[in-house]
Amino acid sequence: MLFLDLLLVEKDAKQLGHGLSVLPSLENMEQFKGQPRLPKFAVPKSYGIRLKPDLTACKFAGFVSIDLDVVDHTKYIVLNAAELSVDSGSVSFTTRGISKVLEPSRIDLVEEDEILVLEFAETLPIGIGLLKIGFEGTLNDKMKGFYRSTFEHNGEKKNMAVTQFEPADARRCFPCWDEPACKATFKITLDVPSELVALSNMPIIEEKVDGHLKTVAYQESPVMSTYLVAVVVGLFDYVEDHTSDGVKVRVYCQVGKANQGKFALNVAVKTLELYKGYFAMPYSLPKLDMVAIPDFAAGAMENYGLVTYRETALLYDDQHSAAANKQRVATVVAHELAHQWFGNLVTMEWWTHLWLNEGFATWVSYLATDSLFPEWNIWTQFLDESTAGLRLDGLAESHPIEVEINHAGEIDEIFDAISYRKGASVIRMLQNYLGAEGFQRSLAAYIKRYACSNAKTEDLWAALEEGSGEPVNKLMNSWTKQKGYPAVSVKVKDQKLVFDQSQFLSSGSQGDGQWIVPITLCCGSYDVRKNFLLQSKSETLDIKEFLKDKTDAASAWIKLNVDQAGFYRVKYDEDLAARLRYAIENKFLSATDRFGILDDSFALCMARQQSLTSLLTLMGAYREELDYTVLNNLISISCKIARIVADAVPELLDYMKQFFIGLFQNSAERLGWEPKPGESHLDAMLRGDLLTALAIFGHDLTLSEASRRFQSFLEDRNTPLLPPDIRKAAYEAVMQRVSTSERSGYESLLRVYRETDLSQEKTRILSSLASSPDPNITLEVLNFLLSSEVRSQDAVYGLGVSREGRETAWKWLKDNWEHISKTWGAGFLITRFVSAIISPFASFEKAKEVEEFFASRSKPSIARTLKQSIERIHINANWVESVKNEKHLADAVKELAYRKY
Ligand code: BES
Ligand code: ZN
Repeated sequence: MLFLDLLLVEKDAKQLGHGLSVLPSLENMEQFKGQPRLPKFAVPKSYGIRLKPDLTACKFAGFVSIDLDVVDHTKYIVLNAAELSVDSGSVSFTTRGISKVLEPSRIDLVEEDEILVLEFAETLPIGIGLLKIGFEGTLNDKMKGFYRSTFEHNGEKKNMAVTQFEPADARRCFPCWDEPACKATFKITLDVPSELVALSNMPIIEEKVDGHLKTVAYQESPVMSTYLVAVVVGLFDYVEDHTSDGVKVRVYCQVGKANQGKFALNVAVKTLELYKGYFAMPYSLPKLDMVAIPDFAAGAMENYGLVTYRETALLYDDQHSAAANKQRVATVVAHELAHQWFGNLVTMEWWTHLWLNEGFATWVSYLATDSLFPEWNIWTQFLDESTAGLRLDGLAESHPIEVEINHAGEIDEIFDAISYRKGASVIRMLQNYLGAEGFQRSLAAYIKRYACSNAKTEDLWAALEEGSGEPVNKLMNSWTKQKGYPAVSVKVKDQKLVFDQSQFLSSGSQGDGQWIVPITLCCGSYDVRKNFLLQSKSETLDIKEFLKDKTDAASAWIKLNVDQAGFYRVKYDEDLAARLRYAIENKFLSATDRFGILDDSFALCMARQQSLTSLLTLMGAYREELDYTVLNNLISISCKIARIVADAVPELLDYMKQFFIGLFQNSAERLGWEPKPGESHLDAMLRGDLLTALAIFGHDLTLSEASRRFQSFLEDRNTPLLPPDIRKAAYEAVMQRVSTSERSGYESLLRVYRETDLSQEKTRILSSLASSPDPNITLEVLNFLLSSEVRSQDAVYGLGVSREGRETAWKWLKDNWEHISKTWGAGFLITRFVSAIISPFASFEKAKEVEEFFASRSKPSIARTLKQSIERIHINANWVESVKNEKHLADAVKELAYRKY
């Protein structure tokens, strides 16, 4: 803390009677540069903010007056500001008490550090003062700070003005202490065109129209962090409802589309009521607005009282949205509303604890969704989150859940599967260990204790520890302070089970992490259960002791990590694995356990700790699988295997595809192409996924049926032959047959893209386009993504290119890197370009080539993703080598391909 030392020097100097600092002022200013956090000798208490956006010139003017508490002797006020031009004549500091106006002797806007340093000629008096700053800025097109989004109204292109401040972009809209711990109240006033809707966090208290302009003043907010402040100015319609205790809830949509907001509105009202009970605390603001924004970088943002969304995550169209779209809307709304308590009311102290916000909101969103839509089996679907967390955390280039943040530029990259998915999974693991009721009680105590304040990870553990009497802090530190997770291997030896933990890495090497692992296991039946904490590397358990004589120790299936509630993998010895295969075939196991056995086996295979032959044999045991989540994972695993086999033993690819088609055909035939009356939500989602898989594996009947139905759809967009749930499957099928000489399917899809005004339809199409196996088409599609026809928020949907297209995509990325970096480099979307295009490769030469290309082009915002993607190439390359050398693989694949189910 260098600047504190300096202040001491300054104080001493004063006492010596010099009156002035002993160091030249320039050197003092230097102390504030390159620091991860602002000095806190003056902290904000309340902000008055006035903003006047000009939607035509895409500029804004603003004025802040900030009540400051000067807590230490200083001549400096240091706050955040970026890309703003400060009107130096407007800056003043009025001391309270004797009410003296001080003007800074020097104003320095340090762009690299995004700080504004105000130096005064005299030391500021301790106590409250009022800082005033006038400034101007640009309504940018980068989807962060105060930005413009565009929409069409009556055939005319128009702008709206929107804010997106998380993580650290409030400073692009007004000078402020832009750190989550610097909570203050906000009183916002907007000067906007009178015909527009102008929203902010709080309800309007006064609106004065003066010709074409109106001045809208909002109530003062409770204390909150800057990243949650929000403003939206545009043309909207809305639907409205209220909760049983009178919170007014609205969903704002494009003009004429208010109906599409009804589903989210309903979910929001019910979810607010549910959380009020769960957190034992009512929603703290008088209103909640939710707005669909046409250009939006993330999926949604939990601004206090004014939640903003991508259109796809908020709007639901009865006619044209799919079941998957509906589920997405419900879970995103539930997630953002969870933040109103977990994040907004109780806020992380620093970005190191971001996972508290995101991991927790993710976990709670499942709780809410499950309560609203029990038939969705959403807790089984939660395993998609866990497995994505395990996948990223299986990399040596992963990071701990609690991650050190030294610069604002590093924050974006930690909105990743570790913070969200591993975070949510370790919370689920802990809740499972402590029990649902006690967990909820402690949580409510934590919310109450830290309401309107900030908390760290250990504060949550302390509350849970107090409530449960369990050593939560010790247990959880092993999961949040070190990266990675264990694979627990288990084998039978002399009637005993021997457990051993070691860090799992997808590369196949062994890390040296150790965890406190909550082990659960069932033996022969879900009634015979044993739980314990594995605290050391190995442990032994006498099976007979807990089996008594209920089952036969020598043959009963033994499943660890029951219900997949723990964040670890399990490696069974051959005998135990065979018993489990038998249990799967005979339908003794739950869907979550079937999921886990398959997923662990796949991970072990990729890490070359298990042969592909044994994985394929296990997959054969799922031929009668019906569960949505399990089948869905089976599909994605099949696709990954097909890609590796195509690189390793291309002559086996057709057999492999035949085997996969055989696995999915029965379920696909059971579901057919059209919805059955009254069928479940899960079947509706499954149908599309199965048909997509069959199309990708080249199943002829599926391909031709898809194209027949697509033709009818082209003639009539409302044809019952192509309902929304199977559209993506049909589009992908159509793209499978598109080539340079047969372009019609591609052109028709582009036509549908251009005609539709439903964003979900647009993303469905974008995510299918790149799947053509013709690299020339891939290139056309990739170039289309860069055109003005695709909003920059959406380009990332089209990057999932076919294996045949990956080389073209890589060349395209290199050729267009400058443009891509300029367009997307300011936010986190750039990382998607890197990972989507680089990770599919599977050779060491390619890894080297990628490294060489980025040697001079990497930057902090992509550094981690780049390393992770290169690590994935290495993992793939090693896997390809081992599959090449696998004996008996060909025989096994042929046998499986010809097996009749
Ligand atoms: N707080 C985030 C939004 C965000 C993400 C801001 C990245 C800044 C950078 C929000 O609560 C969120 O998590 N949104 C998710 C959707 C959610 C359902 C997982 C998103 O944007 O994908
Ligand atoms: Zn979130």
